[in-house]
Amino acid sequence: MVTGDRPPNMAKDSPESNQGADLEQGVSIELLDPEGKLAALFTEPEPELVPPNVHSVRLANVADAADMEEVERLAFPALFPPTRFRREVERSNTLYLLAVREWTEEEVALGPDAISKSDGSPGFVGKIASLPGLPVRLLFQTMGGRKAKMPPEYIAGLVGLWFVLDEAHVVIIGNRPGDRRKGIGELLLIAAMETARNHGSRVVTLEVRSSNMAARTLYHKYGFREVGVRKRYYADNNEDAVIMTTPPIQSDEYQEHFLELGRGHAQRWGETERRVALS
Ligand SMILES: CC(C)(COP(=O)(O)OP(=O)(O)OC[C@H]1O[C@@H](n2cnc3c(N)ncnc32)[C@H](O)[C@@H]1OP(=O)(O)O)[C@@H](O)C(=O)NCCC(=O)NCCS
Repeated sequence: MVTGDRPPNMAKDSPESNQGADLEQGVSIELLDPEGKLAALFTEPEPELVPPNVHSVRLANVADAADMEEVERLAFPALFPPTRFRREVERSNTLYLLAVREWTEEEVALGPDAISKSDGSPGFVGKIASLPGLPVRLLFQTMGGRKAKMPPEYIAGLVGLWFVLDEAHVVIIGNRPGDRRKGIGELLLIAAMETARNHGSRVVTLEVRSSNMAARTLYHKYGFREVGVRKRYYADNNEDAVIMTTPPIQSDEYQEHFLELGRGHAQRWGETERRVALS
């Protein structure tokens, strides 16, 4: 609201209205309202600027296999046998996407062992380095931690899609425990849905443990519906799998909803770069 506007409920002949007259004659509102309380009432709040998301999404390749196995191990501790991603990423009807970010300066200084296994299971060097009283950097230099090879990027999470007939099946989605509730799982799902749409898939399907409420809530948010149950599907504890599927994802109605969710994610977590194929 411009300086000098009158609050709508103020009578023209009230004492306060004289202030309005003064304002019209050029007295600035700062003089009348030194603490800025009135001005704050009339000022439109600036839309909050969310910095760009530090994470981006890209296609996985063979060089990522070892890091993907580590993320899988942390995201699915009960899974056995582990997935052999070296072979998986080369399959023609399967595609894996990674949520990645650059290493921070602090992480680079600490080296790979303490960081790559920092989700509650630090590696050998990381464990020793965390003992109280030891100068971490000196220890790493002594033990050659700096010389160990750092992966080019930090991989926070991954999602895999298997294309079969007109369906895209989510074979895996997960991120490191330390990266949960930061919008990364949702980002991976958005990237997977975009990829499935670009591939021409009609629907997206998946199975989820019946007790996995975090994942089920995420899928519900993106329009998945529970369409069946596979009894005792998971061998480790005989847990049922819930089969979930989207409505037709190419429909205008679904795309409208999906784009709205994507905008909400960007407003909350920042815009993300998604370098995915199949356009
Ligand atoms: C499921 C998983 C991928 C979610 O990832 P995440 O990065 O923590 O999720 P996000 O921060 O992006 O949250 C997105 C949405 O998921 C849902 N969600 C995530 N965690 C949740 C929780 N603990 N409780 C309830 N809802 C949750 C919410 O709908 C959330 O949206 P909101 O923030 O608007 O409420 C993650 O918990 C994970 O890797 N789990 C282990 C592996 C796994 O179970 N994968 C699924 C196999 S089917």
